[in-house]
Amino acid sequence: MRTEIDILENEILEKYPEVLDILLRDQTTQKNIIWATRNYEHLGESYLESKQIKSDLITGVNGDIIMPRVQKDQILQQSRVKNMAEVFTPSWICNAQNNSIDNAWFGRENVFNKEILNQKKWITNKAKIQFPEDKSWKDYINNTRLEITCGEAPYIISRYDTTTGKYIEVENRIGLLDRKLRITNENVDELDQWLEYAKIAYKNIYAYEWQGDSLLLARESLLFTFIDNYRYKFNHEPLPKSIQEIAEIISWNVWQMDGLKGVVPFSCGEIKTKIVNLFGEEETENSFCKGCLSGNILEHNGIYCLIMDWLEGKKIRFIDLLKNKHQSINDK
Ligand SMILES: C[S@@+](CC[C@H](N)C(=O)[O-])C[C@H]1O[C@@H](n2cnc3c(N)ncnc32)[C@H](O)[C@@H]1O
Repeated sequence: MRTEIDILENEILEKYPEVLDILLRDQTTQKNIIWATRNYEHLGESYLESKQIKSDLITGVNGDIIMPRVQKDQILQQSRVKNMAEVFTPSWICNAQNNSIDNAWFGRENVFNKEILNQKKWITNKAKIQFPEDKSWKDYINNTRLEITCGEAPYIISRYDTTTGKYIEVENRIGLLDRKLRITNENVDELDQWLEYAKIAYKNIYAYEWQGDSLLLARESLLFTFIDNYRYKFNHEPLPKSIQEIAEIISWNVWQMDGLKGVVPFSCGEIKTKIVNLFGEEETENSFCKGCLSGNILEHNGIYCLIMDWLEGKKIRFIDLLKNKHQSINDK
């Protein structure tokens, strides 16, 4: 089993040739995700913050370019804190917060593990998880969760502690997706059925992030979490087709967005329109992004991000979920 924390893009390309391109796709723009960080600009024109992350920029001799935050040097870490408020939450805190969601859902405490807060750790409950009378294991997997500004997504998956870099074994993981997969492992033995519920688990986990490198790391960790769990359960590798299907879901559900605007980073801007004035002369009219000027999230002229409503099987704008919420609050 792979226990190094940095998933190497060269390895993905070699073992699962189609998958890296899927993990780099932006489903809203139908291009690749962009760097959206200036940390790589010294490497050349293709690494400017507005440019797409292409697989050849991060593989071959460039295979070590993207690495988890915990392995980046201190100076770079500090500049990322300053520019993007990038500080990652330690796993024991993610665990405590995820536990409080589960305490409310199950109506009891210590369902997945017991926290040892003074030692900043937890002890996994090994016994099969029991469900309240009015809820089933399928309800748990179907319950939808979102990690906002996810960084490397420590609330969702915990292959390694994002602050110490320590690898965490499958049975001791604490992320929101890890928990859904544990429930799947405990309740389903037949392979096709397991795959079906694993996909439902992935479809019910959403996350967004601004910076392209962290987003890719999050996507890679979600994918390797699938491979880890499959091996844990069946003792062999999943088929490339299954890996691709999961990668496809991840590329929708873990997306690049400026969360303050609901749009693809840097997509708002000045629009120049050609008009003909009263004297028949051609003029250029400049209009600025109304949303950026007013701060109203519904008025941006950038590209609003699309996500997939898997139940309805249709694309929706993330922003429209907020709109419905605003409306229902106002209706009360
Ligand atoms: C404090 S870190 C938290 C990361 C992770 N959720 C955790 O708890 O460890 C904040 C993250 O927010 C991202 N971020 C900052 N501004 C953002 C914005 N406007 N939209 C989306 N993500 C943003 C940063 O790139 C960074 O990864």
